[in-house]
Amino acid sequence: MTPVEYLKQTEKKRMHDLFKFLSFPSVSAKSEHKKDVVACAQWLSDHLREIGFKSKTMPTGGHPVVYAEYAGDKKAPTVLYYGHYDVQPPEPLELWKSPPFKPEIHGGYIYARGACDDKGQTFAQIKGLEAVLKASGSLPINVKLLVEGEEEAASANLPAFIKKNKKMLKADVAVVSDSSQFSKNLPAVTFGLRGIAFVEVFVYGPNRDVHSGGFGGAIANPINVLCAMVGQLHDKNRRITIPGFYKDVKPISKWEKAQFKKLPYSEAKYKKSLGIPTLYGEKGFTTYERAWARPTLDINGITGGYQGEGAKTIIPSTASCKITMRLVPEMDPKDICNKIEKYLLKIAPKSVRVKVVKHGGATAVVVPTEGPWLEAAGRAIKAGFGKAPVFMREGGSIPVVADFKSMLGLDTLLVGFGQNDDNIHSPNERFRVIDFERGCKTAAALPGELAKVEQ
Ligand code: BES
Ligand code: MN
Ligand code: MN
Repeated sequence: MTPVEYLKQTEKKRMHDLFKFLSFPSVSAKSEHKKDVVACAQWLSDHLREIGFKSKTMPTGGHPVVYAEYAGDKKAPTVLYYGHYDVQPPEPLELWKSPPFKPEIHGGYIYARGACDDKGQTFAQIKGLEAVLKASGSLPINVKLLVEGEEEAASANLPAFIKKNKKMLKADVAVVSDSSQFSKNLPAVTFGLRGIAFVEVFVYGPNRDVHSGGFGGAIANPINVLCAMVGQLHDKNRRITIPGFYKDVKPISKWEKAQFKKLPYSEAKYKKSLGIPTLYGEKGFTTYERAWARPTLDINGITGGYQGEGAKTIIPSTASCKITMRLVPEMDPKDICNKIEKYLLKIAPKSVRVKVVKHGGATAVVVPTEGPWLEAAGRAIKAGFGKAPVFMREGGSIPVVADFKSMLGLDTLLVGFGQNDDNIHSPNERFRVIDFERGCKTAAALPGELAKVEQ
């Protein structure tokens, strides 16, 4: 039996097991889901043991990590697979067409929170390994599998875990399936991810909400002030105004620009898929350059005052917002947090008090775009998707990839199976059944290809 035949034979069971994995509400951000997160980790660890891995859950400073191993030939390469079993909060629930933790298939898509990001993709890697193991009785590589439970919370406790377990995690290369293909019929290898820096801004006005007729005109309104401050963070060319923000930003290389230009692009389709009248962004750059290789600043949420039904005429006591900045290589999240704090405090008017809480973040990565590991991944993708992959960067962040490089000296192969319209972090997250199947096939081809790499 070949691994592909094994996958064919076990199709039903595989989907059944994926549905079980997806049914745990493993929302890392919310303490009310702590039990679900732990139960999900336990289930995954048990599942890995059932299919032939040595597996356990391991404590961290936060949610547990699932760690599994397969010891093959000593001379064979050791591959560290990474994924995350935690998911984003599913809210707003009313916008879901089926409940987020009751997976369903409609129109060729699996719908569930985590279907694509990242349970579905991680499961595809696991099922590919299982197929090789079951079909040929062994794996041609040594496998270490690290599935964490806090990626969506910026992997706060993972660097300490890696530091403590350096020896256990020693490997030759890392594989991560937590990104996208370029499009429905164009698989991709991602060679860069942006980093991220988080801050939260609080503006304090009067010591209580007050009547906007009685006091309006006499005192500052914290929401007005916050909006004005936020409005000053970009200039008319949509560049970020924070002093020193671009200091470490390197120009996009000619090779990269050429690579991006090769990719199919339709501005009309891009706009239509999002229902927006025009695109928007930093002057002087193309859409892909702006979304993958330039830093940005966005308000993720802004809060204050009265938002209930009807009118309530007040000047609110406080306002706040959450800001994230996407970073490119060489920008340091801590440095960027300090710079925005300094600038916000500088532009804050005397009429209010302003506090900036810095949450840190993750550094951007660019991984090699050539070499034997990458060629091996390319061949596996060709086997799974029937097409050789293109090269792209992506705008999202996977914090551990930079840690793998800096702490373990590992390059990562970013082999994404998702699509950019899979609604990750949105209502109705989904994963195409065919992408899952092709992902499993790619994953089944990968060990053999990686085993061929001369060390
Ligand atoms: N899988 C995503 C990252 C991603 C998204 C990569 C799209 C490539 C394309 C990951 O789970 C994620 O959402 N990361 C967060 C990290 C943050 C919480 C530190 C992100 O990018 O916002
Ligand atoms: Mn993810
Ligand atoms: Mn995510």
